[in-house]
Amino acid sequence: MKPQIAVIGAGLMGHGIAQIFAASGHKVSLHDPDAKILGSAKDRIAAIFTLLEQDPAGMAGISYEPDFATAVGDADFVFEAGPEKLPVKHAIFKNLGAKTKPSAILCTNTSAIPIGQIGAEVADKSRVVGTHYWNPPHLVPLVEVVQAAETSLATVEKTIALLRDAGKSPVHVRRDIPGFIGNRLQHALKREAIALVADGVCDAETLDTVVKEGFGARMAVLGPLEQSDLVGLNLTLDIHKTLIEHLDRTAGPHPFLVDKVAKGELGMATGRGFRDWTPQQAAELRKRLSDFLAQSARALRQKKR
Ligand code: NAI
Repeated sequence: MKPQIAVIGAGLMGHGIAQIFAASGHKVSLHDPDAKILGSAKDRIAAIFTLLEQDPAGMAGISYEPDFATAVGDADFVFEAGPEKLPVKHAIFKNLGAKTKPSAILCTNTSAIPIGQIGAEVADKSRVVGTHYWNPPHLVPLVEVVQAAETSLATVEKTIALLRDAGKSPVHVRRDIPGFIGNRLQHALKREAIALVADGVCDAETLDTVVKEGFGARMAVLGPLEQSDLVGLNLTLDIHKTLIEHLDRTAGPHPFLVDKVAKGELGMATGRGFRDWTPQQAAELRKRLSDFLAQSARALRQKKR
């Protein structure tokens, strides 16, 4: 019998997380205090089964539960995907501490709030762990499993085993640091990208082309450290000796970004960000991304079978 799962929050991330476990044969209860969001979850989850060409019989394992205590009472693992606000997550975890089985593992999908703070009011903090999925969770393989100061190694190992069995690619983040691993890397790259455009070295379109058609083209196969081993650490060191001092070191967010936000240039939502976007261009890019990720996810599932 597979462990029973509860998912708290049926928004963008929560419905995808529920789908992952239902498709893998778990019983899942999905809770959201907003009746409209909970009511729409079934159709949104069905659409994922169709997109990934998975057996829709898995849908039958999901219950849509408006009552919090009923949703979590029998769960072996709870995945919290509520709003990114500390007081809300705090309250959810306080409730989880009181309403779950003592053996239940309590996972938060927070993007940035320290796990220790979220679980502060759970008596047994050894069972509180971060599980940082990437959007969309049912298409991006990685889940960062974040060990906070009081999380037990057993909790981390059980969570990793559960995620691996469900077809995800979990990794162990050994310290509860801001941005974990993935967002630190992503924003280190963004910092330099913004500075290059702000300094007039290239425009935003060129910058994106350099990443997508250059080192990005091989990144799904070759991570940056594998690439260093491939070319040799001596070459990497020689390049660093010349380059590192020239990389952007602006303290705080770059003024170029701050200025754009102040002007209301927020990106696709407003038609202008680093680049200009018509609604049609924005929709086309979203579709291209979704098609690409769905194709990769289907191929990965075939490979793991
Ligand atoms: P969302 O706004 O789409 O969903 C949040 C859901 O929580 C809503 O359906 C809301 O009704 C529900 N909710 C509100 N109060 C609640 C409560 N007291 N108890 C239970 N549920 C409650 O947000 P989204 O994007 O799904 O994000 C959820 C979490 O995942 C956040 O912590 C976010 O930082 C994190 N995350 C988001 C990513 C993204 O790209 N959207 C990526 C990785 C993590």
